[in-house]
Amino acid sequence: MPKGPIAEAQLDLFMLTVYVTGFIFIAVGGVYVYVIIKFRERPNDTRPLPTHGHGNPLIEIGLIGASILLLVIIAVPTLQAIWFTHDTPDDPESRMGAWYSGEELAEEEADNPLIIKVIGYQWWWAFEYPQLGITTANEMVIPAGKVVHLELRSVDVIHSFWLPKIAGKVDLIPGRTNSMWIQAGDNFIKWKEKQGLEGAATAGPAIDSPKLREQYATYLEEEIHDYYYGQCAEFCGESHARMLFRATVVDDEEFAEWVADERTGHATPDGKTWDDWYATYAENPDLLEGKLNEGLKLFMGRAKCATCHVVKGNPRALGVAGPNLTNIGSRMSLAAGWLNHRAEDGSIDQELQYDNFFKWIKETEVVKPGNLMWKANGGGIGELVDEQGELALLTDDEVHLISLYLQSLK
Ligand code: CUA
Repeated sequence: MPKGPIAEAQLDLFMLTVYVTGFIFIAVGGVYVYVIIKFRERPNDTRPLPTHGHGNPLIEIGLIGASILLLVIIAVPTLQAIWFTHDTPDDPESRMGAWYSGEELAEEEADNPLIIKVIGYQWWWAFEYPQLGITTANEMVIPAGKVVHLELRSVDVIHSFWLPKIAGKVDLIPGRTNSMWIQAGDNFIKWKEKQGLEGAATAGPAIDSPKLREQYATYLEEEIHDYYYGQCAEFCGESHARMLFRATVVDDEEFAEWVADERTGHATPDGKTWDDWYATYAENPDLLEGKLNEGLKLFMGRAKCATCHVVKGNPRALGVAGPNLTNIGSRMSLAAGWLNHRAEDGSIDQELQYDNFFKWIKETEVVKPGNLMWKANGGGIGELVDEQGELALLTDDEVHLISLYLQSLK
């Protein structure tokens, strides 16, 4: 089932094409089968061969006309759908000011829909929320029923954004910005129309009531709130098939809470201020005890994680070459959706999550061949060296500690 207007428009277009091509298949195939049966050779057949026909203008023009007609039947709705999916509509109820209840929204953004910048990397996704000042990776969170405007870019090769139940596909092309809009579920007006409510298309108090709003909220909660699977839909290198993503669709409050969480980021494992932690780390790192501190020391030090990853809160984890790891412990998957730890009830399977962290950090190049975390011109974890310059990959114990630390980021 399509969830939202774009997926619906695309399904309608697909079905129209199926009907037209199905009609052609049956018409041409039917004539073919009829002729084969009628003129097949029989025992002792004395019938003369059927005469050949040439240059029947009526048939020729008729077939050309029919072909053009069928193409037009497909082309007109196709063009309409292309424009429909390209132009982000101005839906009053989707303007940020109408639904976003969190803090720190610039006044001039109140009339705009939520904007997400989708940036493709080999092989993962960055999702930036410029109006809210946050960035996440591989698992986007969007509010149900609201128009969301996407700006699509790539830093390396062509990728393609495809979230099948909601919308797709639009390519991410290096050196240019493509755009599209998505909407998980119908807005209030559209929903009312589908309920067959009289005069629903024209907004007005007569067809707006707390009870209706409640029913609408129930529809969003039961049919739309969900965890959706996305996939890069353009071949982009050896791990293209492992470039997945997710979209979690939530209500307005959950969205605001999520934003606040992302903004706050993380404290140190033992509650010290970050300044204190770094002072101790510089003077006497042995005083930073416990597994999480050990993991964090590796994260900042030997494993060099912080050179490529941001962890919000931590003032020195500022690398932007890799995915933002803020709240990575709350995400349901790792490695751009390739390693899953979402249990059937929608919660996180902790054991599986730990195993996935371990697997990913230890054997990055096995999980996702060709990725930059493993080999990055001397900067990847597959190229770590000791003080003598000898190759010295992370030990299992070190991988264990980093995994525990990352799992604690939630
Ligand atoms: Cu990115 Cu395929």
